[in-house]
Amino acid sequence: MQERIRNFSIIAHVDHGKSTLADRILQQTRAVQAREMREQFLDSLELERERGITIKAAAVRLAYTARDGHTYTLNLIDTPGHVDFNYEVSRALAAVEGVLLVVDATQGVEAQTIANFFLALEHDHVIIPVVNKIDLPSARPEEVALEIEETLGLPAEEAIFASGKTGEGVDEILEAIVQRIPPPKGDPEAPLKALIFDSIYDSYQGVVPYVRIYEGTVKPGDPIRIWSTGKVYTVDKVGVFRPGHLEATPALTPGEVGWVMAGIREIHDAQVGDTITHHTRPTEAPYPGFKPAKPVVFAGLYPVDSQDYGRLRDALEKLKLNDAALWFEPETSEALGFGFRCGFLGLLHAEIVQERLEREFDLDLIATAPSVVYRVVLHDGTELEVHNPSDLPDAGKIREVLEPYVRVTVYTPEEYVGAVMQLLQEKRGRMAHMNYIGKRVELVYEVPFAEILYDFHDRLKSITRGYASMDYEQIGYRPGELVKVNILVNGEPVDALAFIAHREKAYFIARAMVDKLAEVIPRQQFAVPIQAAIGGKVIARATVKALRKDVLAKCYGGDVSRKKKLLERQKEGKKRLKAIGKVEVPQEAFLAVLSAG
Ligand code: GTP
Repeated sequence: MQERIRNFSIIAHVDHGKSTLADRILQQTRAVQAREMREQFLDSLELERERGITIKAAAVRLAYTARDGHTYTLNLIDTPGHVDFNYEVSRALAAVEGVLLVVDATQGVEAQTIANFFLALEHDHVIIPVVNKIDLPSARPEEVALEIEETLGLPAEEAIFASGKTGEGVDEILEAIVQRIPPPKGDPEAPLKALIFDSIYDSYQGVVPYVRIYEGTVKPGDPIRIWSTGKVYTVDKVGVFRPGHLEATPALTPGEVGWVMAGIREIHDAQVGDTITHHTRPTEAPYPGFKPAKPVVFAGLYPVDSQDYGRLRDALEKLKLNDAALWFEPETSEALGFGFRCGFLGLLHAEIVQERLEREFDLDLIATAPSVVYRVVLHDGTELEVHNPSDLPDAGKIREVLEPYVRVTVYTPEEYVGAVMQLLQEKRGRMAHMNYIGKRVELVYEVPFAEILYDFHDRLKSITRGYASMDYEQIGYRPGELVKVNILVNGEPVDALAFIAHREKAYFIARAMVDKLAEVIPRQQFAVPIQAAIGGKVIARATVKALRKDVLAKCYGGDVSRKKKLLERQKEGKKRLKAIGKVEVPQEAFLAVLSAG
């Protein structure tokens, strides 16, 4: 019964205990038998559990008998916590009527608490503040409840004090969900309107979209249409989520959260945010604001062993089946041979993809430094998008280079404001505004995306002793004084090492880069000069000194097994080495620019 459905999400800053609380709610509603109960139930990918972060939104349906004696169906939609996946958070929130806003009682409000709060507010949701981790000795629940009131305007007396660890306060949370969050609306007889808020890929069923039904009813046999692609399918099965499995049901009606199997083969035909409707009786308008996932960070991925090129292509194709945001296209590098230029939602996404390729597909890869996408206007008026720094045309041909900007929001205790502002300025940021909220300060800056890509978050954490937090969103392109720096190893330019930098910083980065390269490139039989150049002009230089002795020399005539071991070890090390001309270059070198920036 629609009246007895409650759809909710949990939103929180990273590590404030969202997954732990979700587990506890599952346990308390006995959705999961104790023996089935694994920690972090909703984080289903192996990698997610290991990294302790939530990558894909998941959903589960619970039954809860409230104090009023009625049994309610609670649909919990989990949301990812990292800014790379913000769009998925927003779509997951579109599927619910209310949220639990979880704030760590020892930490207080953080940047993503605020960012997520505003996302929930945009959807007009009921927001239930939960002050979590009250079992910790350093918890200051009353203070944090007041901070939530001051910063977000949610009355302190509405806050529920809880602990996902001990289970304290969880009953109160469940009651609040039933009493404060309204039941979903929608007419079961209206034309179908279902929002895709997530999907999974199954090798038998293909892509299985997870949907929230707003209007109408969907059942097996129905012809359905995906709004943005216009593709038509016949529904095979529909159903709901049970912990650990999908359960088939006769139909899905308004307010319900469930899945649809319809033999969809390509993830691009069922992207998060898109709408499913009936083919014969379509809805008038889709759920608004659909944006196809768009990669913003690009890097080259090359097999260490060139024989693995085909396996790498197959692996990327497989991953793409359940990751609509992953983009790739073949690329050839003079230095690295045949590989792929890959596009990601952010650095974390890039790391996850690379790790999955290596782990699940047993590939050894060389990754080039991630780069943002530059736009170039040539003198003849042609416009280009540059996904790879080595593709930047000669300076003489360029009228203008534009780079992507982000609006960064940093949330920091007052005493670190000076240091944070200095860091943002160093990153070429311009202040948009500054806000005092109690003893905290919100700083909003517009910063080139490339500047915050690599080490910004780490540096922010270190200068504020871990107290500051941040969030960012893309705000479009602006012109910049940008130049390409070429790196020459042993006199040869190495395309995979070229990078684009702001003119004023190019010298500094080039200096750090050649020093780093000289450190990580193993000594060879001869001295290897490393140079950085803009156009024809060398701006920095370092040398890898020649080896004095042959590694094997002292083994000749000696113990055979020792020599073998040495050779073995050398082979191990070689796995990640690429020969560039006569020089062997390790993986580390290709990422040297990250630590030089
Ligand atoms: P993401 O999935 O990365 O967004 O993190 P999260 O918000 O889901 O946090 P998670 O539940 O993984 O908890 C983060 C850390 O806090 C873990 O080490 C938990 O064991 C710990 N933790 C979570 N809830 C509590 C709690 O109520 N009390 C205490 N003492 N520790 C908790």
